[in-house]
Amino acid sequence: MKTNQSLLNERMRHIPQGPFNVHPIFAEKAKGAIITDVDGKEYIDFAGGIGAINIGHCNEEVLEAIRDQIQKYIHTCFHVVMYEPYVELAKRLNAITPGNFQKKTMFVNSGAEAVENAVKIARHATGRTATIAFEDAFHGRTLLALSLTSKMKPYKFGFAPYAPEIYRIPYAYCYRCAFGLEYPSCEIHCAYFLREFFHTHISAEQVAALIVEPVLGEGGFVVPPREYFKVLQKICQENGIVFIADEVQTAFGRTAKMFAMEHYEMQPEITVMAKSMAGGLPLAAITGRAEVMDHPQVGGLGGTFSGNPVSCRAAIAVLDFFQKADLLTRAEQIGEKVLKRFKEWYDRYSVIGDVRGLGAMVGMELVVDRKTKEPATSFTKRLVESCREKGLLMISAGTYSNIIRPLMPLVITDEELEKGLSIIEEALRELRATM
Ligand SMILES: Cc1ncc(COP(=O)(O)O)c(C=O)c1O
Repeated sequence: MKTNQSLLNERMRHIPQGPFNVHPIFAEKAKGAIITDVDGKEYIDFAGGIGAINIGHCNEEVLEAIRDQIQKYIHTCFHVVMYEPYVELAKRLNAITPGNFQKKTMFVNSGAEAVENAVKIARHATGRTATIAFEDAFHGRTLLALSLTSKMKPYKFGFAPYAPEIYRIPYAYCYRCAFGLEYPSCEIHCAYFLREFFHTHISAEQVAALIVEPVLGEGGFVVPPREYFKVLQKICQENGIVFIADEVQTAFGRTAKMFAMEHYEMQPEITVMAKSMAGGLPLAAITGRAEVMDHPQVGGLGGTFSGNPVSCRAAIAVLDFFQKADLLTRAEQIGEKVLKRFKEWYDRYSVIGDVRGLGAMVGMELVVDRKTKEPATSFTKRLVESCREKGLLMISAGTYSNIIRPLMPLVITDEELEKGLSIIEEALRELRATM
């Protein structure tokens, strides 16, 4: 019989340390919002495979679509013999992504690959080279995506040289404003700063794209003020720069809208998405303005497994299930509940420095001291471990790994949600005593 410990020993022996593991456990099975490990212990899942399981583990309708598809064909390569699920899914995404203009969609395998392709397309369409990215951003781990990512350790350290022509400005991280200002008296200085940046760092006419997350995911669930993206996009439009929304973590209901940019009434030129799109199967998409997407020459874009038919069928089932189960309303309810509890804890536990959220994307930032805002990194790690021991799986986030970011499946029951939140509170209470 394989146990967590015996598998961990084998893992250590055969797999390098680079591919990290938050929890030293191995899955036996998973359903809805519950994961059972090989030792038979059940966990409430507040991690959702890093936000890839919004629809829940092993959703029956997704399973049915997968079963049906694998009876027919698994892989022909879209570039060799085309298939309907690719076309059908592209059509569906063109219809539901933000933007009242004609759109086209292509598929790849991961969020990082979607980011890379979006930047390639923007470069081709503009004939320019540079990309503007943000502090605390996460866009993936392949070389261009890694270069766009902000956090040094562990992501970038030792992997230089990075891709060239990437320029970075601060994000609207109000709790830790890079300019030492306060919203709303700041009048969104961090967005207008882009105009100054074009005089001091890179000329606007050399910039192909600006890529930004609607809410920072890995950066710690940071929610910018309402007007922020409108200002950034206006500056992009004035200068012929392609605005790319990285919705890899925010899309498919996490913020209680299908796409987080809907909250900001934004119409990005290009939207990239992945994670929760195909119910746990690898799939990512780049959707954008038709003339921009059509710019690269035939054969300039693609990949062997890109837009795998089984993944496309799963994604179509995901879209259907969102409607059928009204998961956006459920995300709203989950978000309200989590935000309320986190705010109550803020009043009780000084280790919580900030609570913020959009829909079900609610985070709390932990600090050693509310005045200095020194990140409580080791406390956060202990909190995550303590929760696991009590039967709740969580992950942290943030440049200083001091932010709790629940990414529970949106099909979680009220009882499971309540139990998960109670576990966090119990762990907070116990650990505070040791601070
Ligand atoms: C906003 C964002 N962009 C891109 C990525 C990279 O996606 P992947 O891990 O599928 O390459 C992630 C992954 O966490 C992400 O959160």
